[in-house]
Amino acid sequence: MAIIDAKAGGHRYPIVIGTDCGDRLRTLVRRHLEGGRLFVLYDAQFFALHGRNMQRILGAAASRDRELVIPVGETAKSASTLAGVYDFLLDARISRDDLILACGGGVTTDLAGYAAATALRGVRWAVVPTTLLGMVDAAIGGKTGINHPKGKNLIGVFCQPEFVHCDLQYLRTLDRRHMVAGLGEVIKYAGLCGNRSRPHGMLDTLERMSISGDFYDLKKLSCLVQASVTYKVMIVERDERDLGVRIRLNYGHTFAHAVEQSLGYGHLLHGEAVILGVIAALNLGKSYGFISRGLARYQAIAESFVRFLPKRTLRPEAIRAAMAIDKKRSNGQTRFVLIERLGRPILSDNVDRRLIDSALADMVVCYSESGGRDASNPRR
Ligand code: GLY
Repeated sequence: MAIIDAKAGGHRYPIVIGTDCGDRLRTLVRRHLEGGRLFVLYDAQFFALHGRNMQRILGAAASRDRELVIPVGETAKSASTLAGVYDFLLDARISRDDLILACGGGVTTDLAGYAAATALRGVRWAVVPTTLLGMVDAAIGGKTGINHPKGKNLIGVFCQPEFVHCDLQYLRTLDRRHMVAGLGEVIKYAGLCGNRSRPHGMLDTLERMSISGDFYDLKKLSCLVQASVTYKVMIVERDERDLGVRIRLNYGHTFAHAVEQSLGYGHLLHGEAVILGVIAALNLGKSYGFISRGLARYQAIAESFVRFLPKRTLRPEAIRAAMAIDKKRSNGQTRFVLIERLGRPILSDNVDRRLIDSALADMVVCYSESGGRDASNPRR
């Protein structure tokens, strides 16, 4: 078991990474209850599979009257679900001595964190991320919030939890698509970390996973989660409010968001789109001369994961249009995080449109050669 100390928002807290470590969760909950009561918000899918086990772990701290199951899916990250959470908390007369425990993927933990940050102007909360993407990204760094009809994550606050408890046992029941999606964010970190990830060797591990197609080796996953969380915590400690270096965590995301938007949300999982986004960002980097053996190997590994993505029809025109909307939203600037060499991200503004188009086109070819479809090329 590893414990990574995070310091952000004037607050210091542990991020526990282990396997079958429910005892540690029970201890952490007891320690943080301090005489208050525990409220548990569960993701519906997680509750169906592991709810009983979690109730057993939490023991006397938990009560059926103080648990709420949140529907699955991005549509649940809404003002109406949030209103239901407030009703539940206020009906049970939650107080600021109490603790909210959020168990689930990014949708549940973002929503629960926002409810905790805003109910009674702030109730303490803690997180049990249950997906790989949650463990390496969504539950780390204190971003909480909900979607708005005008876009994803437009409403929210930064609110750091009391602790994060990543128990890899829950990944055993995660479906393969969500596992690959989580690995999409891990691939992003592998480029950002570079040699920092030694001795874990993120690239070696990712390469072996891709060759074997076995994504469920918990020892390998533990190394990847530890390396990703360590990197993210280092960034969040320097820039909790996302005003500076935290933008590095958006590596591959400018393209990824545009891909997601062009398909309509829900057709590719966010982490799946991140794999394509990282490949497009690497293509763009090449036009700046960011070429090295390390980067070539990184790109080959990222591209080897494309065959695990579902087949969708990518429409380069629609992706470009989505990027143009994003540019308007951010005052005419499309900012790209690029990787100069492994472990060395840089920020690039005012990128020539032709370079973006060509990076995008090459990514679409890579995707279609692995079985995905390219609307601009009827022969594929
Ligand atoms: N997911 C990117 C961040 O937390 O800043």
